[in-house]
Amino acid sequence: MNKLLIGGGTRVSGRVRVSGSKNATLPIMAACLLARKECILHQVPDLDDVKVMEEVLVSLGAKVKRENGTLVINPENINSYELPEYLSRRMRASNLVMGALLGRFGKARVAYPGGCAIGQRPMDIHLKGFREMGYRIDECYGYIEGQAENLVDCEIMLDFPSVGATENLMMAAAVSKGNTVIRNAAREPEIVDMQNFLNRMGARIRGAGLDVIRIEGVSELNGVEHEVIPDRIEAGTFMVLAAASKGDVVIENVVAEHLVPVTAKMRETGAEVIHYNGGTLRVLGKRKLGPVDIKTMPYPGFPTDMQPQMMALLSAVEGTSVIVETIFENRFMHVNELRRMGADIKVEGRVAIIKGKNRLRGATVEATDLRAGAALVIAAVGCEEETIINNAFHIDRGYEKIEEKLGALGVKAVRIAS
Ligand code: UD1
Repeated sequence: MNKLLIGGGTRVSGRVRVSGSKNATLPIMAACLLARKECILHQVPDLDDVKVMEEVLVSLGAKVKRENGTLVINPENINSYELPEYLSRRMRASNLVMGALLGRFGKARVAYPGGCAIGQRPMDIHLKGFREMGYRIDECYGYIEGQAENLVDCEIMLDFPSVGATENLMMAAAVSKGNTVIRNAAREPEIVDMQNFLNRMGARIRGAGLDVIRIEGVSELNGVEHEVIPDRIEAGTFMVLAAASKGDVVIENVVAEHLVPVTAKMRETGAEVIHYNGGTLRVLGKRKLGPVDIKTMPYPGFPTDMQPQMMALLSAVEGTSVIVETIFENRFMHVNELRRMGADIKVEGRVAIIKGKNRLRGATVEATDLRAGAALVIAAVGCEEETIINNAFHIDRGYEKIEEKLGALGVKAVRIAS
């Protein structure tokens, strides 16, 4: 059931509830390896990537139980510090266990993650940080091996505010003999959630959300309960969907502050975004929208994970928009698919020039990665005709119950056999 049929011509309307954040859940699951006792995570989304991380934890000896949105992770009997290649290849984020394994065992052996569709995504920034902390890092035969040598107080200056490197270093530094300062740290809300989780376990971390994070290492961490933050990218995707289809959608379970860069761009197009108290917002796309220019940046800049969705919207908005992708070197794979639907997009390196038109046409297209798939759903809803999205499994990596949620908004979304 790898294809998704989307019926076009719908003005989406209704209410949708956002799930827990995938990108907060994955590192927090890895951080559970640092605990001596059971951890309970609430608002965990039921997604393929989360299932891969469950497999990773189980392969290391943890016990994992899932009930609805709750995940119970018991790391007491972890007996391995090695992440095998078959798991590393399935999901890049599995490399987040490296920091936790170093913290727990003082050593780790992790298969090198392969490149991925949107770019090379090396681990050099993570490894440089581990070395600064006093770990010996060797790279051989496709594996990275880390071993505590002389853990010291250290200051790490990240060459780029990498989200994964910041999280990996926070985990290793939380259970460590030394004190660690991370400068030019990533400031994403998921980093703040990680700090809150680790501190609840007994870690001593401050600064997350700013570009300097200070960590006093402790000797061990306790098991705790934690509710994962709502998914700002899922929320943003429904915001764009509402505007693109000239709809009226109420989105529940959002943190308005996390959505500031997306809200600002949506308003610039002419869409109306109303924030209510209590984590709810409403998007009305009824007016004629206009083109906007976008440059993706680390948080609090415009998120790269919302770039494909915005491109889908702008392809069907009259006027010229320019998108500059600064985070990933190959994140325009959706352009060819949008062109199949009639979009007029020219790409020069990391710049895309979109000559928007009134309407795209339904076609058979292919989801090349997770957010590219989301972009195609948005484009498809704005067409008159039906669209078939092949390789829809990419969408399931990041969007829980996608057919159900789209259906509740009046969109025909049907899974069909390959
Ligand atoms: C995380 C998110 C992903 C999001 C990205 C950027 C998770 C599970 N994934 O990915 O959805 O798109 O942040 O917001 O949270 N880089 C290096 N060397 C390194 C590390 C990164 O060159 O050692 C480069 C990457 O190739 C990329 C850029 O830095 O071009 C950003 O990567 P990073 O912030 O690390 O993203 P991820 O943590 O992989």
